[in-house]
Amino acid sequence: MTVLATERLVLREFTAEDAEFVLRLVNEPAFLRYIGDRGVRTLDDARRYIAEGPVASFARHGHGLMRVVRKADGVEVGMCGVLKRDTLPDPDIGFSFFPEYWSQGYALESARAVMRHARETLGQGRILAITTQDNEPSMRLLGKLGFRFDRVMPMGAEQLRLFVSEP
Ligand SMILES: CC(C)(COP(=O)(O)OP(=O)(O)OC[C@H]1O[C@@H](n2cnc3c(N)ncnc32)[C@H](O)[C@@H]1OP(=O)(O)O)[C@@H](O)C(=O)NCCC(=O)NCCS
Repeated sequence: MTVLATERLVLREFTAEDAEFVLRLVNEPAFLRYIGDRGVRTLDDARRYIAEGPVASFARHGHGLMRVVRKADGVEVGMCGVLKRDTLPDPDIGFSFFPEYWSQGYALESARAVMRHARETLGQGRILAITTQDNEPSMRLLGKLGFRFDRVMPMGAEQLRLFVSEP
């Protein structure tokens, strides 16, 4: 089980026990607006999402979205990790946090740990990121992580911004 610790946070792989947390997070208005509707409406849907998403990703690629918990009180603040989509040529970083924990540097702290792990432990080269064109907080975060804007690309019905980080 992959576990990453930072100064204030612990990141670990998802299990079926995280269904209630996932159900809340993927139905946050900001998640629905900037990432999309994963169709997760019940705890069973959430268990399926975890099994077919992060758990399958770790089994297949050795990385995926991880649950982020604050060390001080054990509160679940969000998720962050490196995914591998069939629609992109290289792995991409993803993150989503509950609004009550925004603007405290938790996303940046998590993403830095995920990037370091991807590079130093998994030996990944190019890492990508995709955002909607209006997702300013996400783009600011990617800038701090050293990503550069590459181009606008179509994905499904949407035009997304593609960002690239080279080792
Ligand atoms: C994208 C998302 C994860 C960014 O989260 P965030 O809370 O803005 O990011 P951070 O935790 O790094 O906080 C950033 C702000 O905290 C401030 N901050 C406060 N304390 C800080 C600390 N100790 N360390 C670093 N930054 C700190 C920073 O100055 C920064 O301000 P800025 O945005 O004006 O530059 C969040 O908006 C989100 O979950 N959105 C919904 C899902 C989503 O869109 N995901 C991305 C899809 S591409």
